[in-house]
Amino acid sequence: MTHALVLSGVEKRFGATQVLYGVDLSIETGERHALIGPNGAGKSTLFNLIAGALRPSAGRIELNGANITGRAPYAISRHGLARSFQTTSVFPRLTAFDNLRCAALSGAPRGARWRNLLAGSRAIDERARGVLEAVGLAACEHRLAGALSYAQQRALDLGMALASGAHTLLLDEPTAGMSRDEARDALALIRATTAGKTLLMVEHDMEAVFGLADRISVLVRGRIIATGTPDAIRADAAVREAYLGPAAAR
Ligand SMILES: Nc1ncnc2c1ncn2[C@@H]1O[C@H](COP(=O)(O)OP(=O)(O)O)[C@@H](O)[C@H]1O
Ligand SMILES: [Mg+2]
Repeated sequence: MTHALVLSGVEKRFGATQVLYGVDLSIETGERHALIGPNGAGKSTLFNLIAGALRPSAGRIELNGANITGRAPYAISRHGLARSFQTTSVFPRLTAFDNLRCAALSGAPRGARWRNLLAGSRAIDERARGVLEAVGLAACEHRLAGALSYAQQRALDLGMALASGAHTLLLDEPTAGMSRDEARDALALIRATTAGKTLLMVEHDMEAVFGLADRISVLVRGRIIATGTPDAIRADAAVREAYLGPAAAR
C-alpha cells in the first residue's frame, strides 16, 4: 500500500495554546479522505502544516515518501501538493484562461518553465484549455477572473490546482459561501475532476462528505478521535457523542 500523505505525532502550539495533539494520519494514494470536526478543532491549522504555511511544533509529515516537515510552501508544491483556500486565490485581473496557464506553467519542469512561457508553449495552452473545459468554464475563457461569480471563481481555483499537475489536493471547505445548488454542482465537479488523485478535504455538508469520501477522520479539539469508512464513522459511538450530536446518537 502506498501512501500519499503520512502524518506522525504532529503537534501545533501557538505560544502557550496547543491546537493539535499527536495527530497520526495516513492517506493512501488515490484516496478521497474527508476531515470533519467542529469549528476550531484545528482542521485549517492541520492543512497549513501540510502545505507548509505553518511549521509543526513536533512530528513528521511525509508526502509521497518525502519528508516535507517544515519545508516552504513552494518546495512542498514541487512535491506535488496543491491546496485550495477557503477564500479564493485566483488572480482577479487575469483572464480565466491565463490563470490556468500560470498554474500549468508552475507545474512544468523547472528548466522548461521560462522557455515555455516565452515560446507561448502549446503544451501549456492545451493543458490550460483542457482544465478550463473540465471545470465547466470554457465559455468564460476570456473573462477576467475577478468578474466571474463566486462559484465560478471557486471552480477556477480548483482548476488551478488541477492544472499544476498536483497529485495530492487539499480542499478546505470548497463549498463555503455557496447556495445549496452551487454546492451540489461544486461537489459533483470535485468528484469528476479528482478521479485518480489523492484528496484531503474539509467539508461541513455531511451528506456530501458521506457520499464522496472513501474514509473520514474526525478531529475534535486537536485530536483525531476516529478514522474509518463512512459507515464505520456513522456507527462510531464516540463520534456521535462528540460531534454528530445527540440527535445523531439516537
Ligand atoms: N495563528 C494562530 N495563532 C493563534 N491561534 C490560532 C492561530 N490559528 C488558529 N488558531 C487557533 O487554533 C484553533 C483551531 O483553529 P482552526 O485550525 O482554524 O480550526 P478549524 O479549521 O477546525 O475551524 C482555534 O482555536 C484558533 O483560534
Ligand atoms: Mg477551518
